[in-house]
Amino acid sequence: MASEARNRFWIERCLMPCKKRRRRCALPAQSINFSLCSLGPFAAKIAGNMTPEQWTAVDHYFANLLVPPDPALEAALQASAAAGLPPIQVAPNQGKLLQLLAQARGARQILELGTLGGYSTIWLARALPAGGRLITLEMDPKCAEVARANIARAGLAAVVEVRLGRALDILPQLVAEGRGPFDLIFIDADKSRNPDYFPWALKLSRRGTLIIADNVVRKGAVTNATSNDPNVQGVRRFNELLAADPRMSATAIQTVGSKGYDGFVLALVIADP
Ligand code: SAH
Ligand code: DHB
Ligand code: MG
Repeated sequence: MASEARNRFWIERCLMPCKKRRRRCALPAQSINFSLCSLGPFAAKIAGNMTPEQWTAVDHYFANLLVPPDPALEAALQASAAAGLPPIQVAPNQGKLLQLLAQARGARQILELGTLGGYSTIWLARALPAGGRLITLEMDPKCAEVARANIARAGLAAVVEVRLGRALDILPQLVAEGRGPFDLIFIDADKSRNPDYFPWALKLSRRGTLIIADNVVRKGAVTNATSNDPNVQGVRRFNELLAADPRMSATAIQTVGSKGYDGFVLALVIADP
């Protein structure tokens, strides 16, 4: 099977240097911790079994096992790349996580900030029951166009509305139109503005709404209180708003994988907003 061969390729590729090190220092055969090799415990652990290659191999392993190929999602990735969009969409296993969370939440109305080529959009929209709707906001006309084509190819044109414009302009429009409450809100646009998105997300929520924010770890930079990076400042301020708001119950999950080292915030609205 092609996927098995691909798995083996990734696993072999990332284990190769580790095997060599293991032979050199003759650790017990069953050991998967190569940290006692010549590099010393900490450095070797990072070099051996905590590399981006290893994370990517594990992503491929789980994706091949648990995330069945979906022609529309594959086509969306291809069309997005062909159009020159940056490959910054969620990983397949992360897309499936979003879908599972939407299904577990029983989401019928979903709002997304930051569409790119519609990859996460398709994952989320596939979680909707009949009659469910998703609105996704995108400021870049080219992204919106690629996303609309990808969404149509996935058979979701009637379910998903791609709104072109800046999220901060469209959010008040959604409120004015009486849209929402949304059951799930995925915040994945310009992270520097996350603190500005928070009050609008709450206005468009109900008790029980799940708010998910992507890219909140930023290779660990989130812990740097004096960072000059506006994205780091944005996610930190957003986290502080969540922490201070008694209507919210939140946590964050660090992720490693094909998308490097990052993470999600998961926040549940636990009181009437
Ligand atoms: N959710 C996508 C990835 C989104 S990348 C996925 O995982 O598949 C972030 C997107 O947000 C980019 O397409 C960018 O153009 C868009 N964006 C950035 N700032 C924005 C803003 N102020 N309003 C709306 N969209 C914005
Ligand atoms: C990047 C990654 C993302 O998931 C995103 O939404 C925006 C940017 C990045 O790696 O630059
Ligand atoms: Mg993202």
